[in-house]
Order: sequence, then structure tokens, then C-alpha cells
Amino acid sequence: MDRITIRGGNRLSGRLQISGAKNAALTLLPCALLTEEKLTLTNLPRLADVDGFGHLLNELGVSTTVRRGQGDLIGREMTMSAKAIASTVAPYDIVRKMRASILVLGPLLARSGEATVSLPGGCAIGNRPIDLHLKALEALGAQIELTAGYVRATAPSGGLRGGRINFPVVSVGATENALMAAVLAQGETVMENVAREPEIVDLSRCLVAMGAEIEGIGTDRLVVRGKTSLHGAEYEVMPDRIEAGSYACAAAMTGGDLFLAGARIEDMEAILAGLREAGVTVESQTDGIRVAADRRPSSLTLSTAPFPAFPTDMQAQFMAMLALAEGTSVLTETIFENRYMHVPELARMGADIQVHGRTAVVKGVEGLVGADVMATDLRASMSLVLAGLAAEGETRVHRVYHLDRGYERLEEKLSAVGADIERESDS
Ligand code: EPZ
Repeated sequence: MDRITIRGGNRLSGRLQISGAKNAALTLLPCALLTEEKLTLTNLPRLADVDGFGHLLNELGVSTTVRRGQGDLIGREMTMSAKAIASTVAPYDIVRKMRASILVLGPLLARSGEATVSLPGGCAIGNRPIDLHLKALEALGAQIELTAGYVRATAPSGGLRGGRINFPVVSVGATENALMAAVLAQGETVMENVAREPEIVDLSRCLVAMGAEIEGIGTDRLVVRGKTSLHGAEYEVMPDRIEAGSYACAAAMTGGDLFLAGARIEDMEAILAGLREAGVTVESQTDGIRVAADRRPSSLTLSTAPFPAFPTDMQAQFMAMLALAEGTSVLTETIFENRYMHVPELARMGADIQVHGRTAVVKGVEGLVGADVMATDLRASMSLVLAGLAAEGETRVHRVYHLDRGYERLEEKLSAVGADIERESDS
């Protein structure tokens, strides 16, 4: 296991390249299963979860070749070819390490008429059920059975049929699985109350590039006219709005001035509004966003909710920033039931935070003090790194494998803008 050691207090300034979005990549990769032709994704981030998904696709019979990114896209290119599906089983030992594996369920069912996927189970932030995924696929004619920890889905003999899907709760993953199934279902599918996250728009645009017919992209209602097959395409993964928002908090907490190259304004309105309300300077420029601060942030009251509202994936990072704010902030986490694992760790650094159910009351303090802290989940880990960048003295963040799932080359990017940060083995 590794740890990251940070000696805090440096003001961060300079240009920081934003990578391709993890949560877009993880739903674009399974699209390769929907065609016999080649799908090439560019601007793929170099992340553990992306590598893990590549291995899962190989298990299913998809050949993958990876190349360095061309031009100024720092990511990688991956060309995938699923001429024939060799297996329709996503085994437990892969799914337990990467919950996003559940996103092969819809495409496998649509392409091969069957899929057997290990139930992903819960994780640190919640029990993460998949009932909405299964109900959506049943609306397209799928037979679903749960046996021995696996979901076994089978399509009717003539393949999936278009239907009506009305999501009672907004779900990013369930929307993605349903959409990837509907594009090859016979007839028309109407999907209501779908998630509108930019990653869903990215998925829709990639599917359209592959020949799918989708109306209402970006709205909460999608109408899909199924095709008998899709063709290959080349598609560039969108920039990571959560990575950009995380580094924006780093500028805000260190009195810094960062240019987030490649960050897309339209994906980040709620995040940028929160930063501005906290007194942070936010300027959109041609190919990125400048974020600067010359004083302590001001306190905020905010609540997480589905896009376009403030994203749950930014809650922990904003909490780290507000731990240093003038005044008392109130954060409410409405999406996941256990997404405050970073609170006791921030408290070890001197933060003053009280949690009451889904609400956290954050009383800003003048400064934080470096300490040994434990990463528990991806975004909690980032909030601890952010706190370490601003804290006085040395912070050691243990179990950083969580970070490697969502932040490409974190130490390299932060060192380049002035952070005193290094990775060490934590044996
Ligand atoms: C995606 O998870 C993201 N992961 C999460 O990012 C993100 O936090 C989440 O969307 C919300 O934006 C990926 O895209 C790989 P949901 P997902 O289905 O699809 C409940 C990160 O840090 N629900 O929108 O699993 C669920 O329990 C990760 O990058 C059901 O009840 O999220 C939750 O309370 C963390 N039944 C709510 O809906 C279901 O069948 C939203 O979950 C599915 C979900």
C-alpha cells in the first residue's frame, strides 16, 4: 500500500491539465460490446478503474489496444473490437473490485440476448442497490433472476423490445444501462426522469456517433428508436468536471491561482456558483477556467442533488474548503446514506464538524494542522489531500489506492503547480 505525504502551506499557482472523465469513460467503454466494428475512445484517463474495465472487456472477448494520446490530450487512446462475444459472464472477483462493471449488463443483454453479472454489493458510501437497473431492463422485455449473488438476465427470443421506463429515483447507472440496452431493442423506448449528468450526454453522443437514434439528449426524457446494429466510431471522452472542481478547491484553500485547462463550464455551473458564493474568483477562458483566491473562503449552505444541482461527488472536497471558511456552513448529502467518512479524518486535522444524519454543520477554523489520516473512499481521500495542502505541517494520507481510482497523476499535477507532495510506500 502507498501513502501520500504533503507538507502544507504552499500557494498553488499555474496551469493544470484536466484529464478525461472517469465517470464518462466507465460508461463509454462498455459501448464497445454494442457493435462488431471497432470503437476508439480518445482522452481516456490513466486510472485503475479504466484499466480494470479493459480487463473485464478482455474477459468478455473484446480485444483492446492502447496507445499514448495524440497532441495535447494527455490521456490514452483505446481501440476495442467485439467481433464476437466470447463470454457473457462478469465474474465476482472482477465486479467486487469495480462496481461500474455492472454497466456491461445492458450492452451484453442487448447484443447477446443474455448476461450474468455478479451483484456489485455495497461500498463505503452506501449499499448501492441496482433495483432500478433491473426494473428498467424488465421494461424492455428482459427476464431477470437473482441466484447465488449473480444477476442473470435473458432477452426474449426475438431480442429486447422497446418499452416505457419511468425512473422513480434519478439514477446515473440505471439510466446508462437502460440507454445502452434500448439502442438495440426493437421499436421505440421512452425513458422518463432519466439522469441528466454530463456523462449521460457524453454516452448519448457516443451512441449517436455509433448510429443510434436518441432524442432529448440532455433533458430528463429520452426517446430511443432501436436499431438492429450499431457501427464503429471514434469518440473523445469529455473532461472530468469532478477532477476540475477538486483542483478548484485546492486553489481556494491555498490562496492560489490555477488555470484548469480543458475544464468545461457547462458541466460545472453548480460547482462554480458555489465557489463564487464562497468568494472565490472564477473566470471562464477559451479552453479552461481560472480559479483564484486571495482570502479565506466565506461559509455556505448547500445540498447535493442530481444534475444540474450541486453534485454529491464534490461534497467532501467542498467540506474541506469550508472547514477553513469564515463562519459556519451547512451541507446536506441527499444522494448517499454514508458519505461523511471524511469527517472524523478532517477532525483529526482540527476541523470543527458536527454530523446530524444527512446534514453536516461545518464551523470554519483559522487553520488546519497536518496529521496522519486514513482514506476511506475516492472523494473522501481527495478532501484529505486538499486539507493537507492547506494545513500547517505534514499530512500523511494512508490507503491512497482509493485516490488512484479517480485522479490521474495527482502528485505530478499538484507538484507542477507548487505543492510539496510525494508518494511513499506505506508497508
Ligand atoms: C454514479 O454512481 C457515479 N459513478 C458516482 O460517482 C456518483 O456519485 C453517482 O452516479 C451520483 O451522481 C459512476 O458513474 C461510475 P446512482 P451510481 O445510481 O450510478 C440509488 C465517484 O465518486 N439507487 O445515480 O451508482 C443509490 O443508492 C462515484 O466518482 C437505487 O436506489 O449512482 C443512490 O442513493 C461515487 N437503486 C442514488 O440512487 C438503483 O438501482 C443515486 O445513485 C440505483 C441507484
